[in-house]
Amino acid sequence: MKTVILTHPFQTQAAAKLPKKLRKNLRFINAWKETEVLEALPRAAGIVSLLTQKIDRRLLDKAPDLEAIANMAVGFDNIDLSQCKNRKIKVLNTPGVLTRATAELAATLLLAAARRVPEGELLCRTGKFKGWAPDLLLGKELHGAQALIVGKGRIGSETGKIFRGLGLKVTYCTRKDREATVHSKLKKAEILSLHLPYNEKNHHWLSRQKLQLLPKGAIVINTSRGNIVDEKSLIDFLRSGRLFSAGLDVYENEPQIPANLRSLKNVVLLPHLGSATEKTRHEMASMAVESIAQVLNGQRPRNLVKF
Ligand code: GLV
Repeated sequence: MKTVILTHPFQTQAAAKLPKKLRKNLRFINAWKETEVLEALPRAAGIVSLLTQKIDRRLLDKAPDLEAIANMAVGFDNIDLSQCKNRKIKVLNTPGVLTRATAELAATLLLAAARRVPEGELLCRTGKFKGWAPDLLLGKELHGAQALIVGKGRIGSETGKIFRGLGLKVTYCTRKDREATVHSKLKKAEILSLHLPYNEKNHHWLSRQKLQLLPKGAIVINTSRGNIVDEKSLIDFLRSGRLFSAGLDVYENEPQIPANLRSLKNVVLLPHLGSATEKTRHEMASMAVESIAQVLNGQRPRNLVKF
């Protein structure tokens, strides 16, 4: 029997639905607290992890028999891939099932950031709404605006489709673009939406220099990873009014959000909800659990991370 650590009740529900032939050689144990995970690691052949769990050398050293990690996320920057490579540990993620939910959240942030939804909400909630006025909380109309989507993977492409449906003109920035091309696209980007995976190369992709290139009054949306953006510079550009607003679902030092970002009016802040729909989160759990069971039974599922 091989032991698989499950780190969330959704995964336990998914494991109960596995076909018998995938379950029969596996023993699933629930370890929903960090201390329980640490206790179970020495016996584990597999772990279904969450993106908030740092799977680094310290942790991997406690699991000498580990064969596979399935991250219940599409991103896997919480996992030390070079250690996994040395140890020949297979890594799985959950692509595809969360594409639509995440793209819809990017659009939600864009609409909210363009139409000053948090400021309007606050006005109502605090009893300060004193009646309709021609100049109350004027926002930006999106129809016809130029959007630049950074990253043309599944989520970037789906976000582009939704943005087009809103009447935006959409262009993409891809890995193949030369620096000069990226810069000229940024100069026209009234809306910038980030859809890059986090890795060292993409650290602070949206740097102060790139922020400077955006037209005055641009809107920045980030549903990818916080470290893709130089958060300090973003705050400066929002505070000075160079940017109209931003919609953020992710932060550099998550779950911490700097006080000087929280105090800004022209930013929509969400607590990493990109894939947070009932349907998607259960599909992510099922995909992670099923694929780790396949790997531990000698199969090669399609969601194996290549490294
Ligand atoms: C969420 O951020 C994910 O990577 O799935």
